[in-house]
Amino acid sequence: MSTSSSRPIIGVFDSGFGGLTVLKALLELIPDADYLYFGDTARLPYGSKSVETVARYAVEAAHFLEAHGAGMLIIACNTATALALDQITAAAHVPVVGVVEPGAEAAAAASRNKKVVVIGTEATVSSHAYKKALENRGLRAWEKACPLLVPLVEEGWIEHPVTEQVARIYLAEAFANGFADADVLVLGCTHYPLLKPLLQRVAPDHVAIVDSAESTARVVSGRLQTLAPTLSPDRQKRSSSRLKFFATDSVEKFQRFGRQFLGQPIEDVLHVDLKE
Ligand code: DGL
Repeated sequence: MSTSSSRPIIGVFDSGFGGLTVLKALLELIPDADYLYFGDTARLPYGSKSVETVARYAVEAAHFLEAHGAGMLIIACNTATALALDQITAAAHVPVVGVVEPGAEAAAAASRNKKVVVIGTEATVSSHAYKKALENRGLRAWEKACPLLVPLVEEGWIEHPVTEQVARIYLAEAFANGFADADVLVLGCTHYPLLKPLLQRVAPDHVAIVDSAESTARVVSGRLQTLAPTLSPDRQKRSSSRLKFFATDSVEKFQRFGRQFLGQPIEDVLHVDLKE
């Protein structure tokens, strides 16, 4: 894979800012890699778009990241993974990791009664990608689209009574229909990790939350150890990651919005215009 001074270059792709929650998890686990992050902010949200559109956008972004030296691609966007992982993998020349399989794997490990609730965008839920990945592991899944949560998080209403009320309604509908005793809630959207404390409060007490951002970071770390065994995440001498960001809409807006998702200031952002 492509490296700079023997460090891997990991390309992270998302429809916008939300995938920065995945980058945050990657940085915590794999600090000794360099990262290129592509946020397709001009064309978000993906969660309400068709398979054809999402696949076309995602393949363009994958080509962009590869052309800029990414030696591995992380599809941080749940919607892009759910709808277009196969197309992206077929179009790429480097290993591609999506968020659905790692999320399903972590849910399978966490669930005792093999009943799981998954929340995500309309498109992710309609694709049934999580349901299929969970059923392949012997679990039953109830999927619930929660379209209002993305705009509420982008509004910065993380600990807010309106968000809490909306989450209560969604989760009451999800933990029903024979799934009241489901013991795992999978956060199948890039924005939801920010709501983890709120969702933990609102979900039934017996429920464990699986964050597909964290599970994906663990899978990437494992893959890197196979591809570049010297770059173990727990090795003694760490040097900090170099981060470069690309956004298809305003740089200033990316910096302003992105900060809360990444949990640190965002500096090196370039505006890019992907021609249709
Ligand atoms: N990144 C998307 C996801 O994880 C959420 C935002 C969008 O709809 O573009 O599904």
